[in-house]
Amino acid sequence: MAPENDELAPETNLPGELDLPVLAIRNTVIFPVLAFPINVGRPKSMAAVERALESDKLLGIIAQIDPRNEDPETDELYTMGTVVKILKSVRMPGNKLNVIIQGLARIRVRDWSHTTPYLRAEVDVFEEPPETDEELRPMLSELRELSQKIIDLSPQIPSEAGFLVRSIDNPGILADIVASNLTISVEEKQELLETLGTEDRIVKVIALLNKEIQVLELSNKIQTEVKGEMDKAQREYFLREQLKAIQKELGEVDERQEEFDDLKNSVKRAQMPKEVEKVAFKELKRMTRMNPGAAEYTVSRTYLDWLIELPWERFTEDKHDIVDARRILDEDHYGLDKVKRRIIEYLAVLKLKQDMKGPILCLVGPPGVGKTSLATSVASALDRKLVRISLGGVRDEAEIRGHRRTYIGSLPGKIIKSIKKAGTRNPVFVLDEIDKLGADYRGDPSSALLEVLDPEQNFAFQDHYLDVPFDLSRVLFIATANLSAPIPPALRDRMELIEIPGYTPEEKTRIAFDYLIPEVISDHGVTDEHLEFSREAVQHIIQAYTREAGVRGLKRELASCTRSIARYVASEELEEKCVLDPEKVEEILGPIKFFQEVAERTAVAGVATGLAWTSTGGDILFIEATKYKGKGGLQLTGQLGDVMKESVSVARSYIRSCASALGIDEDVFEEVDLHVHVPAGSIPKDGPSAGVTMMTAIASLLTGLTVEPTVAMTGEATLRGAVLPVGGIKEKILAAHRAGIESVILPAKCQKDMVEVPDEIKGVMHFHYVSRMEEVLELAFGKDKLEAQREEMLAVREARRQAQATADAGQSAEA
Ligand SMILES: Nc1ncnc2c1ncn2[C@@H]1O[C@H](COP(=O)(O)OP(=O)(O)OP(=O)(O)O)[C@@H](O)[C@H]1O
Ligand SMILES: [Mg+2]
Repeated sequence: MAPENDELAPETNLPGELDLPVLAIRNTVIFPVLAFPINVGRPKSMAAVERALESDKLLGIIAQIDPRNEDPETDELYTMGTVVKILKSVRMPGNKLNVIIQGLARIRVRDWSHTTPYLRAEVDVFEEPPETDEELRPMLSELRELSQKIIDLSPQIPSEAGFLVRSIDNPGILADIVASNLTISVEEKQELLETLGTEDRIVKVIALLNKEIQVLELSNKIQTEVKGEMDKAQREYFLREQLKAIQKELGEVDERQEEFDDLKNSVKRAQMPKEVEKVAFKELKRMTRMNPGAAEYTVSRTYLDWLIELPWERFTEDKHDIVDARRILDEDHYGLDKVKRRIIEYLAVLKLKQDMKGPILCLVGPPGVGKTSLATSVASALDRKLVRISLGGVRDEAEIRGHRRTYIGSLPGKIIKSIKKAGTRNPVFVLDEIDKLGADYRGDPSSALLEVLDPEQNFAFQDHYLDVPFDLSRVLFIATANLSAPIPPALRDRMELIEIPGYTPEEKTRIAFDYLIPEVISDHGVTDEHLEFSREAVQHIIQAYTREAGVRGLKRELASCTRSIARYVASEELEEKCVLDPEKVEEILGPIKFFQEVAERTAVAGVATGLAWTSTGGDILFIEATKYKGKGGLQLTGQLGDVMKESVSVARSYIRSCASALGIDEDVFEEVDLHVHVPAGSIPKDGPSAGVTMMTAIASLLTGLTVEPTVAMTGEATLRGAVLPVGGIKEKILAAHRAGIESVILPAKCQKDMVEVPDEIKGVMHFHYVSRMEEVLELAFGKDKLEAQREEMLAVREARRQAQATADAGQSAEA
């Protein structure tokens, strides 16, 4: 009750009618009794006030209907208003007046006397009856009670207002005082002003008071409800809570509530383990308190979706028909007996013991031998879902295990993502290229993989994002790798390594006819009525267009042959079935890609053919040596690793130490520089297994003897000429065979590895097992040639010695 109310005594005994200046007021209605400050600025209003001040200080105040109207006509004013007495008038800067007025009584305009320079009217005056009507007593106390309630509920109203309310005995006056302080519209106030009957007016005021109390109570209720939870005092949050409380009060359904109910049901249906479910419900509860527009809300929502969608208790039924499983494996792949048998064993055990912890198989072998495709066919043999991730180039632990949720946009790692994709908890999970796993400052992904692959730990795999354990123990993991050496040892220990070596040409031919050709033919929309490959054609492709351990290149070449036939089929130009022979193959595939290059390369002295074991299986490798005038230096090229560099030095020292036995002039080591190169220069090479070949190349260079073109060799050599065993024998021999090599020199200790070499190859190649370098050189150059070389050297030396002796004799004679 803001206005000044210290002068409450109403001026009584006004005449029944008055002729007085009138002031139009906007935005409010002045009631009798209270003193009230108003600002006066409009010229007509100023004139009216001045006129009043000049006479009896009485002024009529009437509200205008449209407050925007600057200079209202008389019909734009209400007809009822209030006669007031000007208590005080103060000039303000900007030619304005601040006037304190006191309401006296209601007036109604009877006639307008004039409208300029100020409004003037003849009015009827209605004074409030001063006596207290006994019948209005109960209404008076109700008015007081309700007013007091409002004062109590509104913190902005000073509590002294209560004293004022209690001190007024006249219910009509109290009603006016209350009315002027209600937060109601100008129209409503005007209506109260125009209600002359005291009882009527009081009834209206009481109704308005009750309404206001309800609003205040509601708002207070909201305040208290909000306050309890208002820890962060966020404005937005505060408003939202208010909105929520209002919606609740109005009985409006909260749309978000429906979303939460849905989520709640989904969580219940997801069959999460109890402790995970608890986490989910906690997150859901957190969510209900968040602003749906906030980033945080989306983060929570995404997280819940992940929890809900993971297959916590969803499995596929395993197929336990072992005969059928074997049939499926055979249908998809030729050979690979060891792997297939291991898988069948696993199925057998699984049939007997359902919850067996899965073994982790790791298929190791060169590219294109069917590792990935075999792993996928295991899934169909078992009737399980299949997921595959490639670990090649994965350096960041978070790729496996996810990022913590504190990062915006974080997600689970590859493992959990794939499980979700599988939709079951027991898929076949192929981990491709486990040997290409990297590690750097972002953490070691192999340590995360350890947890994935260790049956002792993987029943509670921890993904950083999920932050709750997930059971991976029913997953059948199958890893693949090209080489076993680069696999981190701890990981290797946990897996069962199964080697898939390369195929022989004969095996490749069978794979081509039984698997690849039917597949590519149907892939290209032709049939065997259009196209047939002859056996010779396939062998020609294998020999002349591919050099690989696996069959990927073969499949590609078969596909390009088929494509070119398919073209004719499509354009209906094919008149009869096309039978491909080697000539047609060459027509389609172009000039032969791989020549039998060994003979060409080894035609000069200083070149020897070695065998290498690489990630692509085995390969042949030429070591070239050359010499030029110098001072005994040694130059090495071809991206050699330290071990290989050392073996070049070892080779030179050895050859030097037995120079005379080989028929090499010892002085040569002082007079020339040697250069050893191992092509292809861009592929890094290391390891000791080229030692024997290096020695042979250097010996060839210095003796001038060429190496037999059909011979290749492998083995580590010591400084004293002993030949030590090396690995990868089977792959190397297959590679030698592919390259057209007929005999291979091997360390004697490697003879035991020969059981792995297919009989088909053993039948067509020769193998020499050696333990000394001398044997190698004899085999490489031919015993006769070496012998001849040595004799020639001895003869040369003898001749030189004699020449020197003659010269010496001559010199002394002269002296
Ligand atoms: N023994 C086989 N029988 C039938 N098809 C085979 C056989 N081996 C390989 N293939 C076929 O060769 C193609 C290449 O095989 P896959 O992709 O599985 O090779 P990989 O061993 O995984 O090679 P990488 O190491 O490069 O990943 C596939 O189409 C596959 O079906
Ligand atoms: Mg693969």
